[in-house]
Amino acid sequence: MTPLLRARGIGKNYGTVTALEDVSTVVNAGEVTCVLGDNGAGKSTLIKILAGAHQHDAGELLFEGSPVRFRSPREALDRGIATVFQDLAVVPLLSVWRNFFLGSEPGRWGLIDRERARETTRTALAEMGIELRDVEQPVGTLSGGERQCVAIARAVHFGAKVLILDEPTAALGVKQAGIVLRHVARARDRGLGVVLITHNPHHAYPVGDRFLLLKRGRSLGSHEKEDITLDHLTHQMAGGAELETLTRELESD
Ligand SMILES: Nc1ncnc2c1ncn2[C@@H]1O[C@H](COP(=O)(O)OP(=O)(O)OP(=O)(O)O)[C@@H](O)[C@H]1O
Ligand SMILES: [Mg+2]
Repeated sequence: MTPLLRARGIGKNYGTVTALEDVSTVVNAGEVTCVLGDNGAGKSTLIKILAGAHQHDAGELLFEGSPVRFRSPREALDRGIATVFQDLAVVPLLSVWRNFFLGSEPGRWGLIDRERARETTRTALAEMGIELRDVEQPVGTLSGGERQCVAIARAVHFGAKVLILDEPTAALGVKQAGIVLRHVARARDRGLGVVLITHNPHHAYPVGDRFLLLKRGRSLGSHEKEDITLDHLTHQMAGGAELETLTRELESD
């Protein structure tokens, strides 16, 4: 099986800052590749490169087996790579259905068919098990989890092959994080290749098939699920050992 996406030896500098060095991983259809690492590890930089928002300086990117270099997120999206960026998942003041379409609204003679757009949004969200009171309400009035779900449903509806999510569960409570992760699993089961960025191994482990660990821009390894336990993953993460030391310190008084 040819992977949907393959990153090989990717490197990226911002001026004198090395954000990524020699990072490799794969994204397969129907699988979830998790990217883990502490703040500043290079997670967002990697997905910006996969998403066409930034360009890599070294290494190569293969999409369905062919080398590619996306010049914009639009170009990546046209090839079927949909990305929900860390802070820009949705436009808060626009309604739910407007956010769902964001420039791809159905219409005739230059007019948006609002009723059809609203109905399509309602149906697509319902198919993903998301019941919203009103698709006319501004997306900013939804909870963080619901907002992520709208972005995921949008990618699935518009036929994305790859879905990239940057910290979709970071600001969420346990219950909402669970709901978002369930939608990640659903997108995977529909055959999408998912890239899930998180710094929480407890969020990554239940849905992940592969775990890429980053630390200060370098790869600590890419592990298949059968090769790594949750305990090991937590320890590998920056903070694992430090947290134990901290616990001992705090308990010693
Ligand atoms: N546009 C930029 N210009 C300069 N430096 C940048 C830029 N974007 C990222 N960096 C630097 O690259 C490194 C990696 O940043 P990145 O945002 O990829 O980390 P991250 O793993 O996503 O962190 P977080 O968990 O906080 O989101 C950091 O040292 C950051 O300061
Ligand atoms: Mg980030």
